[in-house]
Amino acid sequence: MSDGAMRAEAHTATVHFHDLHPTPADMRAEVLAGLALPRKRLSPKFFYDAEGSRLFDAICELPEYYPTRTEIGILRHHGAEMAARLGREALLVELGSGSSLKIRTLLTALRPAVYMPVDISKEHLLASAQALAAAFPGLVVHAVCADYSSAFALPVDDHEHPRAAFFPGSSVGNFEPEAAVRFLARVGELLGPGGRLLIGVDLIKDKRRLEAAYNDADGVTAAFNLNLLARINRELGADFDLDAFRHEAFFNETLSRIEMHLVSTRAQRVELAGQGFDFAEGESIHTECSYKYRIDGFHALAAEAGFRAEQVWIDPEALFSVHCLVWG
Ligand code: AVJ
Repeated sequence: MSDGAMRAEAHTATVHFHDLHPTPADMRAEVLAGLALPRKRLSPKFFYDAEGSRLFDAICELPEYYPTRTEIGILRHHGAEMAARLGREALLVELGSGSSLKIRTLLTALRPAVYMPVDISKEHLLASAQALAAAFPGLVVHAVCADYSSAFALPVDDHEHPRAAFFPGSSVGNFEPEAAVRFLARVGELLGPGGRLLIGVDLIKDKRRLEAAYNDADGVTAAFNLNLLARINRELGADFDLDAFRHEAFFNETLSRIEMHLVSTRAQRVELAGQGFDFAEGESIHTECSYKYRIDGFHALAAEAGFRAEQVWIDPEALFSVHCLVWG
């Protein structure tokens, strides 16, 4: 674990960096466990190495991928109201901050005392935090490289500012509903009584629209999915043949989730860390769930975690929702 302050160029903004990133050994253990399951599975958090983060940013620009631009539209349109709910001078934690683009639409109105982006993708986090600090002089930035899906404590001992959290993008959809409840409760504990969470949630809609968003014509989502295997080859020395797996994404209506898979196109064996993993033709690795909700369904989930739904904003087409939740 290393803590350090880094000076971004040509101004006085300082980014404090806290590295709580899981080690390669943690990743190896998780990957081995996932591939040993009867239904092989890998966590979507492993998508985000440098190349995966770059591909994800490209996904956000795709015509088929409506969530990003729709959510940004909602934030632009209702940002002042959202900021009034969250309050000024807060310690503002953003979970899965990525390129920190969305928060930019809110920062001028929000005026947080401290901005704390949390992301698992280290290089991406650092570059984004430094660019943001440069664009908002005077803002104190504490960048935290961590896996927010497992328990973590805020690495600063700050109790003078009220706390607020921002969790955009519908990344809450990566959790199974029961895990989402546990995760939200952890965020609530971090915020404390009266703390507010601004959270983006993708809505149930026409199946074709949903499936197109995860099966873009340019194949960027396929490249993003397959990069997971390339990353495991690079970092863990596996021998996945990228030409022998194909991207698959579909809406599972019963469970109300998009599922992404990597399907083996032939019978094959893959070696990783001295272990062999056999694939039948057509057998898949389940790489991501992206749950879609109705407003009331999400409010029930939030309530189960201990949050009260205070306000919700949606776009005119009702594609996406942004919720203000209050803890306690
Ligand atoms: C970042 C988890 C919100 O589920 O839509 C995009 C990830 N996967 N295209 C999503 C993703 C394929 C995205 N989240």
